[in-house]
Amino acid sequence: MRTVLVIGGTGTIGSAVVRELGKRHRVITAGRSSGDHRVAIEDIDSVQALFAATGRVDHVVVAAGALHVGPLGAMTHQQFRVGLDSKLMGQVNVTLVAQHALNDGGSITLTSGVDAHNPLRGCANTVAVNNGIEGFASGAAIELQRGLRINVVNPSLLEESAEQFESLFHGLETVPANRVARAYSRCVEGAESGKTYRAW
Ligand SMILES: NC(=O)c1ccc[n+]([C@@H]2O[C@H](COP(=O)([O-])OP(=O)(O)OC[C@H]3O[C@@H](n4cnc5c(N)ncnc54)[C@H](OP(=O)(O)O)[C@@H]3O)[C@@H](O)[C@H]2O)c1
Repeated sequence: MRTVLVIGGTGTIGSAVVRELGKRHRVITAGRSSGDHRVAIEDIDSVQALFAATGRVDHVVVAAGALHVGPLGAMTHQQFRVGLDSKLMGQVNVTLVAQHALNDGGSITLTSGVDAHNPLRGCANTVAVNNGIEGFASGAAIELQRGLRINVVNPSLLEESAEQFESLFHGLETVPANRVARAYSRCVEGAESGKTYRAW
């Protein structure tokens, strides 16, 4: 049994990951206002404080991070920064700290999204950020030390989120959270590194 930290562990994806990995591992969760620990991933000091509070863990999963969805013609600099600062830099921050805080042979699992490879209207920020996450992981994988691995799960729209986002993503195939959770399990419990696993 290993210890897995799931950041965003109370969310739609995160809670399914907690259910799946909790069958075989000790799982602890973190969020801005929910879970076992408090963290704001866009704040590097907060991420450092999180790992200081948890002590050494074996694996970390990030299922958190905000994006901006809206038409390019009306997009502001500040709106584009939402995805960069939260979902991209948030997950980079976790990786930068976790590489020194995880036990040997551990893993980092990040989250992108289906639109990275299937652009939709209003998704210039999300496409850029989700591709950035996948690119970051492939670059980081070849430099991680001590047998650490890093991978990305790229989920389609979850069945559980379809109603919330249906006006934005008409026609997109949905995927159940328990299937998405198995892709996270593969990242944590598998052997590969630098990969993006599609859960579509
Ligand atoms: N749901 C989908 O259909 C879908 C599909 C593809 C990709 N994704 C991606 O997957 C990620 C999670 O999506 P979700 O639908 O599961 O989200 P969600 O249901 O809104 O849950 C988000 C989780 O992350 C935590 N959180 C949010 N912002 C945070 C921050 N800045 N720092 C630390 N924790 C934070 C939340 O807890 P607190 O509220 O306590 O902070 C919550 O536990 C997102 O990046 C999203 O883009 C989602």
